[in-house]
Amino acid sequence: MIEQFLPPNWQLLEHGKRAYAHSHMVANVAQKISSHTTELDANKAYEYGLMHDIGKFYLGKSELYKHPRVGYELLINAYPDVATICLTHPFPDFSNYEHVLSYHHEDENEARKVFELLGTIEKNIYIELIQFCDKISRMDDYIRWEDKLQWYLKTYNLDSNKITNQYSKHLIKIKQKLDTLTNMDVYNLVGI
Ligand SMILES: [Fe+2]
Repeated sequence: MIEQFLPPNWQLLEHGKRAYAHSHMVANVAQKISSHTTELDANKAYEYGLMHDIGKFYLGKSELYKHPRVGYELLINAYPDVATICLTHPFPDFSNYEHVLSYHHEDENEARKVFELLGTIEKNIYIELIQFCDKISRMDDYIRWEDKLQWYLKTYNLDSNKITNQYSKHLIKIKQKLDTLTNMDVYNLVGI
């Protein structure tokens, strides 16, 4: 599915190859976790993982933070379920405007648009699965979300007090759900 939505010359983008590699990591781990459950469709999970960052291929480096909404708008008519994954994947704490704003580099216009759209979406287990898989995937390895969060805060020089409380609470809950669905510790399943 991703090939049909990649713009021409995406490989010329500096961040294109990184996003492509990362998307496959997310797809593979989402598929793996799902295949250990009876509730989740592993093929669907794979496609969602592969597509979650599609917006990145349409943006220059300085505007990458807009990729959740750009991916959403690209897919909302043809594949509304995938569009929803694109929009929601960075925000386990859906209703935390401060995180949405800080994620969008304090661009209030963009943050408001995204926050409004988020308010129209009902969470489901696939949304949570991809949020979790995104948080444990890098370009060529997997990492516990707790460690990726530390890296993220440092890299983007973010104020941890603003976002970490709700964010962490939601990720802990999602992991517990996935542990229950797979009947094991998903960190063991992934080997991290
Ligand atoms: Fe992303």
